Amino acid sequence: MRSLNRIFAKSTTKKKQNMAKKLTEHVSWVGKVDWELTSFHGDELSTHRGSSYNSYLIRDEKTVLIDTVWKPYDEEFVSRLKQEIDLKTIDYIVMNHNEIDHSGALPELLREIPDVPIYCTKKGEAIIRGHYHQDWNFVNVKTGDTLSLGKATLTFVEMNMLHWPDSMLTYYDGDGGIVFSNDAFGQHFATESLYNDTVCEAEVMYEAEKYYCNILNPYSPLALKKVQLIKDMNLNIALICPSHGVIWKNNPMQIVEKYQLWADAYQENQITIVYDTMWQSTRKMAEAIADGIRDVAPETFVKICNIAHDDKNDVLTDMWRSKAVLVGSPTINYGHSFAIAGLLEMMKGLKFKKKKAAAFGSYGWSGEAVKQLSARLQEAGFELVNEGLSKLWVPDQPALDDCREYGREFAKAL
Ligand code: FEO
Repeated sequence: MRSLNRIFAKSTTKKKQNMAKKLTEHVSWVGKVDWELTSFHGDELSTHRGSSYNSYLIRDEKTVLIDTVWKPYDEEFVSRLKQEIDLKTIDYIVMNHNEIDHSGALPELLREIPDVPIYCTKKGEAIIRGHYHQDWNFVNVKTGDTLSLGKATLTFVEMNMLHWPDSMLTYYDGDGGIVFSNDAFGQHFATESLYNDTVCEAEVMYEAEKYYCNILNPYSPLALKKVQLIKDMNLNIALICPSHGVIWKNNPMQIVEKYQLWADAYQENQITIVYDTMWQSTRKMAEAIADGIRDVAPETFVKICNIAHDDKNDVLTDMWRSKAVLVGSPTINYGHSFAIAGLLEMMKGLKFKKKKAAAFGSYGWSGEAVKQLSARLQEAGFELVNEGLSKLWVPDQPALDDCREYGREFAKAL
């Protein structure tokens, strides 16, 4: 048993020493894979496949650390980084974005190397100061500024509001060219194998879409401009290294092309019907409306979601993919349901563009919900196709026939 313990102890030690994963001759991944993460931004965003906080180390004549990890992993990060490198040999830290999932380990790291210059945007400095209240050695950079590492050079490109005011990307012109893009091009996807061609392509692309929809979509006009700027720079790009999820190695520009598509009022031939229901009446309406859509548009993919049960961020991703949405709620307490109200608030914030919509719902006496939903859909930027459909109590067959006809008319109006 003792010898087995020794073997186990040895293998554990060896595993710890392997924190870094070599990407190229000069660049290593030194981040943290978070297999347990189930939600992000509090509970605003579900992360069914975990995530990672990617940090990178470049060793040229100068040594640079790019971004750190989320605060709960700060001690682990610094302790493992020490096994990879003498911290005192780090010449620069580059902080592309300073939300806590990337800057969270700065205090722990700078306890050891307090004078190392931190390269970040001016807004980045303000955010770090606002979070940690420390007078560290900040160097502000803007688009086009460079930092020589000896053989290779870093070039900084501001990505303000993608998705925070401080965001930037850093381009490294060594080893075939690497874009360190931080949140842009990321996905909440945990993997030990790092690269996009080592995981299920459909899963990772779904997570990239969900990430774009739920985090970046409000800033799509800016994203279009920045993606075009990146393309116009005609950079050699062997790798795109975001701060979450896989590194784009196989055809790295595919994610840039996707962003160009997604940022331009993206939609597929899909209609999403989202409802909440108390006693199944609004559900019955939703299903009859779906039948009506299929009667006249059989090629259109129709998705039905119960927002009280389904994951809100997956539902939003379905809405983002859709050319039109129908939102249904029963009337409750002279209003609409809690789950639908939350969804509408998120829809407004995500600023979906060029999508059509309509409302529906059952009621018992006052029946305010449909009118309220229509107003909120308009407020969220959707083009209303009609004034909505309300049905009293439990819909009987004639009422369901009306719902089916409502679905047909809705599909024809798109
Ligand atoms: Fe991954 Fe905006 O932080």
